[in-house]
Amino acid sequence: MYKIGLTGGIGCGKSTISDLFKQLAIAVIDADEIAHALVAPGQKALIQISTHFGSRFINSDNSLNRSLLRDCVFQDPEKRRQLENILHPLVYAEIDQQLSQLTSPYAIISIPLLIETRMQSLVDHILVIDCPMEIQVNRVKLRDRLSDSQITAIINSQVSRTERLTNADSIIDTTQGLSSLGQQVNTLHQQFLKQAQ
Ligand SMILES: Nc1ncnc2c1ncn2[C@@H]1O[C@H](COP(=O)(O)OP(=O)(O)O)[C@@H](O)[C@H]1O
Ligand SMILES: [Mg+2]
Repeated sequence: MYKIGLTGGIGCGKSTISDLFKQLAIAVIDADEIAHALVAPGQKALIQISTHFGSRFINSDNSLNRSLLRDCVFQDPEKRRQLENILHPLVYAEIDQQLSQLTSPYAIISIPLLIETRMQSLVDHILVIDCPMEIQVNRVKLRDRLSDSQITAIINSQVSRTERLTNADSIIDTTQGLSSLGQQVNTLHQQFLKQAQ
């Protein structure tokens, strides 16, 4: 299976672009969705988080207290590493499992932290979804209920835009409005179909 690693900073447009590939009947594996499912009540990662970090991170309905955990790991790099050590191996194992079941000319694997987790070699081609930081911050502000300082903390915890672009085999620029994205996706789709042969 020819594997495209789709990555980019928070709010740069990864999910938007993934949806356009889905519309072309291309399989999309989403590391964020997998991570989300792994911390659902009773699931593997949630159990490990409760054991490791303490039950105060679990709400009374057995769901994860996301905002408490987010604040905890952004304030303490060591805690963040510990959380990553729980989540990342489980996420990558599930990606492998999903890949083994696909029938699609090629696969998009959306991994926001592809470069941060040094997993570039997992994929054959790195597609970076890019826009200037100012636009990125504005889009996150509109989408999520996060403060400026929370958004800045997330962006600072990710690799720099320059480093991400250095790793790119292809780039989709999402600066322009949504209507400009379809053409960029179609062009890459034709290229990926050829490369996948
Ligand atoms: N080219 C674009 N023009 C305008 N808004 C966009 C564009 N691309 C994405 N958005 C909007 O910006 C927000 C972040 O995009 P999203 O795809 O969710 O980013 P990511 O998955 O990288 O965090 C969403 O609300 C989305 O609708
Ligand atoms: Mg997304």
